[in-house]
Amino acid sequence: MSSPRRPPRAVLLLAVSFITLAISAAVRAQEDYDYNEEVNPPPAAQDRCIGVFLTYTFISRTKEYPHVKNASAQSYAFKSTATVLNTMTTDLQAWKMFIGFQHHEILVSASGAVITDGTDFPVHVENGTSLSGFPQTDLMNAIDTAGDLSQIRVEMHFTGTQFGVKPPGTPMPRTIKLLNDGYKCPAPTKKGKTCFTAE
Ligand SMILES: *[C@@H]1O[C@H](CO)[C@@H](O)[C@H](O)[C@H]1NC(C)=O
Ligand SMILES: *[C@@H]1O[C@H](CO)[C@@H](O)[C@H](O)[C@H]1NC(C)=O
Repeated sequence: MSSPRRPPRAVLLLAVSFITLAISAAVRAQEDYDYNEEVNPPPAAQDRCIGVFLTYTFISRTKEYPHVKNASAQSYAFKSTATVLNTMTTDLQAWKMFIGFQHHEILVSASGAVITDGTDFPVHVENGTSLSGFPQTDLMNAIDTAGDLSQIRVEMHFTGTQFGVKPPGTPMPRTIKLLNDGYKCPAPTKKGKTCFTAE
């Protein structure tokens, strides 16, 4: 008695799962797109640099629990990246990059770097923080590595929590700079969701 009703139901279920698949593929495609933006730092500025080129790129965020009415108390989970590129003819030993976080950020994970003073994650970085390379403590120079990006450049990936900036605002740090002695980075330039500076 129920057998004639079954095929339409199966078809409906199939249709629903196709739509679900299509939506999740679209979401993934968007994430991939956002992710790719970050591996293309501003080429002209980078190519003009003879020194150390730093970037910070905001990737994405999502509202976290608890959802609250007070906008400045709302937390968001964020993803961002930063890069340090050595364009000198000499190695950059024990690089240290300062990121001037300013939205009550709590860093939960970082790949490619550790907090310079050895603090474990999660760490409150609301007044900014210094990061050092791990495992890539030093950045070689292009001459000795035949321009091997994997040895002259480090890319850090961060996840964390920040508070209060309502979408579509982009929560950028107030500054980024190299802390190594003898370097004086000018104030960073902001372009879209990336900021960069060079010394
Ligand atoms: C909203 O949240 C902020 C940050 O936690 C707090 O300083 C402020 O007092 C709150 N405002 C109200 C109206 O509760
Ligand atoms: C950040 O600076 C403020 C003001 O100096 C201070 O009250 C706060 O404790 C600092 N936060 C951290 C995590 O060090």
